[in-house]
Amino acid sequence: MDLTTATVLITGGAGLVGSHLAGMLHDAGATVRVADDLSKGERERVPDPVTFTKADLTDRDDVEQVITSDLDMVFHLAAYTDTNYDDDRKLFEENTEMTYNLLEAMRDADVEQFAFTSSSTVYGEAQRPTPEDYAPLEPISIYGSSKLADEGLISTYAHSYGIQSWVFRFANIVGPYQRGNVVPDFIEKLTDDPAELEILGDGRQEKSYMYVDECVSAIKYVVEHADEPLNIYNLGTKTTTSVTDIADIVSDELGVDPEYTYTGGERGWTGDVPKMRLSIEKLAALGWEPTLSSDEAVRNGTRDLIDEIVE
Ligand SMILES: NC(=O)c1ccc[n+]([C@@H]2O[C@H](COP(=O)([O-])OP(=O)(O)OC[C@H]3O[C@@H](n4cnc5c(N)ncnc54)[C@H](O)[C@@H]3O)[C@@H](O)[C@H]2O)c1
Repeated sequence: MDLTTATVLITGGAGLVGSHLAGMLHDAGATVRVADDLSKGERERVPDPVTFTKADLTDRDDVEQVITSDLDMVFHLAAYTDTNYDDDRKLFEENTEMTYNLLEAMRDADVEQFAFTSSSTVYGEAQRPTPEDYAPLEPISIYGSSKLADEGLISTYAHSYGIQSWVFRFANIVGPYQRGNVVPDFIEKLTDDPAELEILGDGRQEKSYMYVDECVSAIKYVVEHADEPLNIYNLGTKTTTSVTDIADIVSDELGVDPEYTYTGGERGWTGDVPKMRLSIEKLAALGWEPTLSSDEAVRNGTRDLIDEIVE
């Protein structure tokens, strides 16, 4: 698939990753449209020349409006993304319904290429570094279960209905516009009280972080170079960063020296996977590798967010 001449729809294109993907693909020459219900994303993040439609993708009429036969490809990023949520049923139904609605509408409109943003959470507490062919997949959160259910639907449409698909299992992505996760959370807490920082869990949770610009360039590369009916790739960095390391980086960037207190326990919340690192050997074998370490990605994301939240 040559994305420099393609007409594509990005769902969730007003969010962190989607807005960056929209900008990058537009700059590369693609005709880009975005559909988002703005439940979490913001209209002004969608780059100007990109066509925007406000659409709730759990609504089949809204989906039919944005899936048109002139599309070459759909990038489905819209999701209920708060992993530390309080409404399991809404999360599961919303995520799986959107994916099902889109695939059905694509089949009707003869749109034959689909990319999907899955998550490391499909692996549950698997051994690390976790390769794409790791089995059995045993997610421990409803969010991870919803992503695995989505992957099941995509596999079916890829193998039975001819919709060629790319599934990206993300590590943690950091960058501007992010809210409701560890980096913006620490910035907000330390701006309120620079003397003390409460850290969920024991601070030793250790995960791999990837900077959003690298994430979207890896997506483009894989779509242009992997050509199976169903292509599954981990996207992440080779190293990890602990929660206490993140607190150190954020404190350093803010120029503060707080006392840390820990809520205790090995995980931040029920369903939190305490240690995550994805194997990115399959990605490297295809010819793409990240240039930033996990710590560098966290530092870049922290700088972006300090500019937004504090200044
Ligand atoms: N950021 C990460 O660390 C990470 C990690 C693993 C997987 N992912 C996946 O990558 C994708 C993008 O993540 P992100 O960090 O950019 O999230 P985000 O929350 O910034 O963006 C998601 C977008 O989807 C939109 N949306 C939600 N429900 C919708 C609906 N019913 N109809 C239309 N739009 C709707 C939101 O308004 C938002 O703009 C998601 O699928 C997410 O699950 C992200």
